[in-house]
Amino acid sequence: MIMQKKINCIILASGNGSNALNLIRIFHTDAGEDKSAACSINISAVVSNIEKAPVIEKVRIAAPDIPVFFLPYASVSEREYFEKELESIIRKYNINCIILAGFMRILSKEFVSKFHKKIINIHPSLLPAFKGKDAIKSAFDYGVKYTGVTVHYVTPEVDAGPVICQEVVKIEENDTLETLELKIHDMEHKIYPAALKKIFI
Ligand code: GAR
Repeated sequence: MIMQKKINCIILASGNGSNALNLIRIFHTDAGEDKSAACSINISAVVSNIEKAPVIEKVRIAAPDIPVFFLPYASVSEREYFEKELESIIRKYNINCIILAGFMRILSKEFVSKFHKKIINIHPSLLPAFKGKDAIKSAFDYGVKYTGVTVHYVTPEVDAGPVICQEVVKIEENDTLETLELKIHDMEHKIYPAALKKIFI
């Protein structure tokens, strides 16, 4: 008999939720009862800091059995409350891994240090290039010929933690910002599950 180690993950997302939905499909919906791997990734809960973020409704429809929470965090003044509530959800669901999937807020140094090597982020550029917001547009506007996607551990310094996986996306002459965004998202949907499998399975 294979002994299973379950990794309970919580997803934090602020927007559209394509990465959150993709991870839920792979590790929750499509995984079904097939938990034969020695270690299984369990999506235990989803948190959004934006009340009207599409991700909330999308997860509720796609996976009604996954609890979804709205915890307000729009301005820095709300961070302390957000992190306190998040910690109680983390305890309640025995979370071992915090997955940032388009989470557009900065976590405090104290919070990040408390969950050292337990917070993972995806960023739409080849870090350390194009850190911060609007990374796809920044790379496109700069005129680089290659950009990409990075999955990395979160450390107190923003977009600077150890790299877990990185993939290149070529910017072709005929690419527009819209086609580049589609290519980046396609790559994200491949690389994020692959990175989690690399760490845990
Ligand atoms: C993704 O491109 C992700 O890499 C980016 O936000 C998008 C969310 O899309 N994250 C960052 O820029 C973090 N700095 P989604 O809501 O469709 O998953």
